Amino acid sequence: MSTNTNNLQAIKYKRGELLILDQLLLPHQASYYTIETSQEGHNAIKTMKVRGAPAIAIVACLSLAVELSLVSHKFQTKESVLQFIHKSLEYLKTSRPTAVNLFEATDRLWEIVKQKGETSEDPKEITLAYLEAAESMLDADIQDNMNIGNFGAKWLLDYYKKDKLRILTHCNTGSLATAGYGTALGIIRSLHKQGVLEHAYCTETRPYNQGSRLTAYELSYENMPATLICDSMVTALLSKGLVDGIVVGADRVARNGDTANKIGTHQLAILANHFKIPFIVAAPTTSIDLKTLSGQDIPIEERSSQEVISVSGLLPGTSDLVTVTVGHPSINVWNPAFDVTPASFISAIVTERGAFVKESSKEVYDLSEVLKL
Ligand code: MRU
Repeated sequence: MSTNTNNLQAIKYKRGELLILDQLLLPHQASYYTIETSQEGHNAIKTMKVRGAPAIAIVACLSLAVELSLVSHKFQTKESVLQFIHKSLEYLKTSRPTAVNLFEATDRLWEIVKQKGETSEDPKEITLAYLEAAESMLDADIQDNMNIGNFGAKWLLDYYKKDKLRILTHCNTGSLATAGYGTALGIIRSLHKQGVLEHAYCTETRPYNQGSRLTAYELSYENMPATLICDSMVTALLSKGLVDGIVVGADRVARNGDTANKIGTHQLAILANHFKIPFIVAAPTTSIDLKTLSGQDIPIEERSSQEVISVSGLLPGTSDLVTVTVGHPSINVWNPAFDVTPASFISAIVTERGAFVKESSKEVYDLSEVLKL
């Protein structure tokens, strides 16, 4: 099976082969990196060669799918293959802590193979059950994203009843962060496809620069009308009345709607509320974690100081990627990768099942209702 989308492909898969677009090299070089084991999948996720909540989950599960295709002949018993799958999935879960999609997907696949093990003694059948479930994630994710894009675009158009919209987004939530199309960037894509996107603004998204490196790459790749701004320029832009709405993705949405997303998201939500424009969270239902009641229980990853004090780029006139230090090398650095936006600031949560708003008398959502639909 392989993904089929006209957009950028972060993940290329066919049975026995997994390639990911190495996002550490973008936008300078578009080269694919081969993953053959769950260890390589874990490493690619941890080092952010691949990132974005849905893409992390898919690459984790497919890395084990490739490994299984290559080593399945070694398993002689049901117990041995089940043990291998369980151990590998538990290991993959340790790659990054915040995006819940990784935990949802690995737990779901484990349930599927465990159930298969209740009716089959054949290690080959158990392996096949894993492969089919992992492979189905690619197409399902693209379909979900297209639905998110259309529901989000409709919500914004209904809200404004305007012909053209100017939308700001943060981090990267596009084809590079998913199997294709994207979530928040999927909404921008849908508006563009419908001819109603006047302009997209993307923030640089320090420290890893998902905005200037990746979202700017996607917006340019598809010739959308777009402008890059530094994170510190958002207030100036909004105060000029140049943005109609802010759309962002999610790494984990708690049961009450509090949302963990890329660091800097919370301040954008505060600004959207201050300037009275909608602030939309776009995410598949696999990003909703009903077991986490509110944002204070979401684990927030802290990353290396190097990401804050250094930047990578190409030496002029060469294809040599270099990292240079721009901060004082001995300063203390705090580098949380995500922050939590309180539900009260979120105008709507858009999933593949529709756009949801809070009950007018409430400050929080009850997302168990969304998952019942
Ligand atoms: O650290 P990253 O780049 O994995 O963070 C990504 C984000 O915060 C995205 O907004 C989120 O994962 C949604 S991607 C569709």
